[in-house]
Amino acid sequence: MPAKRRSTRSATKASQKAPADLLRFLDPDFLAERVGGKSVLLGVTGGIAAYKACTIASRLAQAGAKVTVAMTESSTHFVTPLTFQALSGRPVYTSSWDHIESSDPQHISLASSLDIAVVAPCTMDTMARLANGQTSDVLSLILSAIDRKKTPVLLAPSMNDVMWAQESTQRNLKTLQDDGYETIGPGDGWMACRSVGPGRMSEPEAIVAAMCELVG
Ligand SMILES: Cc1cc2nc3c(=O)[nH]c(=O)nc-3n(C[C@H](O)[C@H](O)[C@H](O)COP(=O)(O)O)c2cc1C
Repeated sequence: MPAKRRSTRSATKASQKAPADLLRFLDPDFLAERVGGKSVLLGVTGGIAAYKACTIASRLAQAGAKVTVAMTESSTHFVTPLTFQALSGRPVYTSSWDHIESSDPQHISLASSLDIAVVAPCTMDTMARLANGQTSDVLSLILSAIDRKKTPVLLAPSMNDVMWAQESTQRNLKTLQDDGYETIGPGDGWMACRSVGPGRMSEPEAIVAAMCELVG
C-alpha cells in the first residue's frame, strides 16, 4: 500500500538535472534501490512519443517495479498493448469494461494499490479530460480514483508546439497543477511533426528520475 504523502513537490527539478546526472537512472541497480517493489501505473495516451513509454516500462520492470500499463484507445494506434504486456510482464488495461485482474471494480482496486502513476506521453486531449474531471476512458477512470494527497500522479505532456501554446492547453495545465498533479516538461526540441520548439516530451530517464523523486 502507498505511504501517506507528505507534501506536493514539483517534479520539474528532475527535468533540470544535468544529462550526466540522468545517466544514473539508466542503471537498473541504481533504479532498483528507488523503485524496486513499487507499484507503478504507466498511462499511455495517443501521442507520437508513445514509443518512448516502452523504454519507461522496460526500465521500471528491470528495476523490479510492478508496472501496470493503462492505454487510451488512441494510443493503441501507436504502440500495441502486446508490446507493453511483454515489457511489463503484466496484463494491460485498454478498456473500462474488461475486468482483467479482479472482480472488484478494477479502477478502484488498482488505484488504491499504487505508489505512483505517470502518464507519458500525456496528450492535449487527455490533459483536457483530466482538467475537467472526465472519466470516459480507462486511464482517466483509474486516475480519477487516485487520492493525489497520498499517491503522486505525474504528467509528461507531449504535443506540437502550437498545440502546447494554445490558451486551452495552458489553462488546463494550470488547472491540473492547482489540482495537485505533478508535471514534467515538455522540453524544447525536434518533434515528429518536423517543427522545433516547446512540446517535446521529456526524455524517459528524466521522467524516471522525477518518479524516483516523487516516491523517494
Ligand atoms: C499521427 C498522429 C500523431 C499525434 N500526435 C499527438 C501528440 O504528440 N500529442 C497530442 O496531444 N496529440 C497527438 N495526436 C492527436 C491525438 O491522438 C488525439 O487528440 C487523440 O484524441 C488523443 O486521445 P487520447 O488523449 O485519449 O489518447 C496525434 C494524432 C495523430 C494522427
